[in-house]
Amino acid sequence: MKTLNMGFCLLLTGALLVGCKEEKKEETAMPEQTEVAKKGGITKAEYGTTPEGVKIEQYTLENAKGMKVDVITYGGIITSLTAPNKDGKYEDVVLGYKNKEDYFNGNPYFFGAVIGRYGNRIAKGKFNLDGKPYQVTVNDGPNSLHGGKGFDKRVWTAEEVAGAATPTLKLSYTAKDGEEGYPGTLKTVVTYVLTDDNALEITYEAETDKKTVVNLTQHSYFNLSGDFSKLITDHELEIKADKFLPVDATLIPTGELKAVDGTPFDFTTAKEIGKDINATDDQLKKGGGFDHCWVFTDSSNKLKEVASVYHKASGRYMEVYTDQPAVQFYSGNFIDGTKASKTGGNYEKRSGLCLETQHYPDAPNQPKFPSTTLSPGEKYTTKTTYKFSVK
Ligand code: GLA
Repeated sequence: MKTLNMGFCLLLTGALLVGCKEEKKEETAMPEQTEVAKKGGITKAEYGTTPEGVKIEQYTLENAKGMKVDVITYGGIITSLTAPNKDGKYEDVVLGYKNKEDYFNGNPYFFGAVIGRYGNRIAKGKFNLDGKPYQVTVNDGPNSLHGGKGFDKRVWTAEEVAGAATPTLKLSYTAKDGEEGYPGTLKTVVTYVLTDDNALEITYEAETDKKTVVNLTQHSYFNLSGDFSKLITDHELEIKADKFLPVDATLIPTGELKAVDGTPFDFTTAKEIGKDINATDDQLKKGGGFDHCWVFTDSSNKLKEVASVYHKASGRYMEVYTDQPAVQFYSGNFIDGTKASKTGGNYEKRSGLCLETQHYPDAPNQPKFPSTTLSPGEKYTTKTTYKFSVK
């Protein structure tokens, strides 16, 4: 493991060497001083090789408190993220495959990945821009999901941002004009910043040379219990959204913005995810649970808190902030017990939940939805933060 910028030890008065990872006896250099570990920084390691023979690297971001986020250059995937429980114990709270090949061979659940060029669904993979029809890859029944062979299945270039206050990793990927059917060369940069108050800030930036559509998001599955054999149905969720987008049988929004009031989709006051998930409801039936886009009550594009998740038993609390207009809350309905978990056994239906901040699905075909069009000369910039604490 190559150390880039971490674990530098402060030399202070005393005689003990405390907690430096690679303990080297430095007494001869500074016999009268104590080294006290200062956590934080980025380390880089080899992760593996794709079936095509591309070497994948893993970067570990660590903050001053000891929270760690592992990111691989394949798909910009977060393979691990630790957060403290009420006893101060840091445990991994995001699902990831035990076997690396599951990432490289399709990542069927999109675990932890950056999603693009268009997160969520586009009906039949078709849309028009300036009167010109486009056909993008169809990979989800009759529709296109998450960009076809999307950004989650591409190799990104990683760069540690030197001089940043806290660990900052910049990932770049340029999608070709015509890739997966989308027009325009899209230069994309996703930056992960791990702050010292246990927040993961994600900034997405993109520029195009032809008019295109863009909807970037992150597909981490959270399970705040830290035990992936448990389900997320006991997590309490709040979404500051008074409307959601009902879908058709193929999960394409019908175009209606429906009030959550009086429906199982009302998370305006925190409630356990399992409370209404099995209610008799046509929309829940279509999604196999929650797999819908919630439209925030505050439609401004400023960064604001939009959702939170609380796991009572561990005390873990996660807040989500974004400048995006909506979030896809997905309750892990398609997880089918076939993939090995990092902590033993296989992942089961509802062992993780996603809060994918984004624009509305199928916006390229629905003129009443906020536009996802990006033109040359414009800059796509959005930010989402997942902040961890205890209650
Ligand atoms: C998104 C979709 C879901 C599902 C997952 C990946 O969240 O909305 O329907 O496809 O991705 O399994």
